[in-house]
Amino acid sequence: MKLIFLGPPGAGKGTLAAKAVDILKIPHISTGNIFRAAIAAESPLGLKVKAILDSGKLVDDGTTIDLVKERLAQADAQKGYILDGFPRTIPQAEALGTFSTVDRVVNFDIPDSGVVDRLGGRRVCRKCGHNFHIIFDKPKTEGVCDHCGGEVYTREDDRPVAIQKRLEVYRAQTAPLIEFYRNKGLLLDVDARPAVDEVVANFRKVLAV
Ligand code: AP5
Repeated sequence: MKLIFLGPPGAGKGTLAAKAVDILKIPHISTGNIFRAAIAAESPLGLKVKAILDSGKLVDDGTTIDLVKERLAQADAQKGYILDGFPRTIPQAEALGTFSTVDRVVNFDIPDSGVVDRLGGRRVCRKCGHNFHIIFDKPKTEGVCDHCGGEVYTREDDRPVAIQKRLEVYRAQTAPLIEFYRNKGLLLDVDARPAVDEVVANFRKVLAV
């Protein structure tokens, strides 16, 4: 199954994708994770995109489309994938349509107030990328990942100014994709407000998996 996860920053797309990988046995491809790994490795891509990610703006379409096209050509993505964070603009969605055929687009629906609480409290493992939350899902030992022992940190773009910028960018450039995919008959809405287990149940219900 070839899936897109759509929704505002902090809707829980990455958290749900980690669960959906076990259910559907397909890879989770997150453009945000790819960019953050490149930044950590200080690769040419990482050096190019670091300031953009930190500010909450979008990386240019050309760079992002090339990266996803290359990733989707790999063997593990042939039977299916979860695309998390791509497409994020209409030109990205149009480009995706030229090199892959998506089966479903899952729209994680949540108001801005819920998003600000989630992003403000998010903590992420620097090593394995697992998401924690200082209230909803604390690591057992503060600052240490339960899964790999890595350092748990606050993403630069989870600071208040960058959160507001990301919400603005989402409304202007990404939210129009909801109608774009609804008009193609591909969109499934999932209520992303409840606790994680309930969101997983909502997801399984709408996809019948
Ligand atoms: P990206 O990493 O994709 O960021 P995002 O879309 O802003 O999404 P997030 O990772 O912030 O949120 P999420 O929905 O995955 O929520 P999460 O599961 O972590 O992109 C980062 C940047 O990269 C962009 O700003 C841009 O610069 C660049 N970029 C990426 N893709 C691009 C593209 N296509 N084009 C151009 N630029 C691109 O959950 C959030 C928190 O809430 C966590 O703490 C979690 O524990 C908690 N939580 C989750 N679900 C629940 C729940 N149900 N109940 C309670 N808490 C919950």
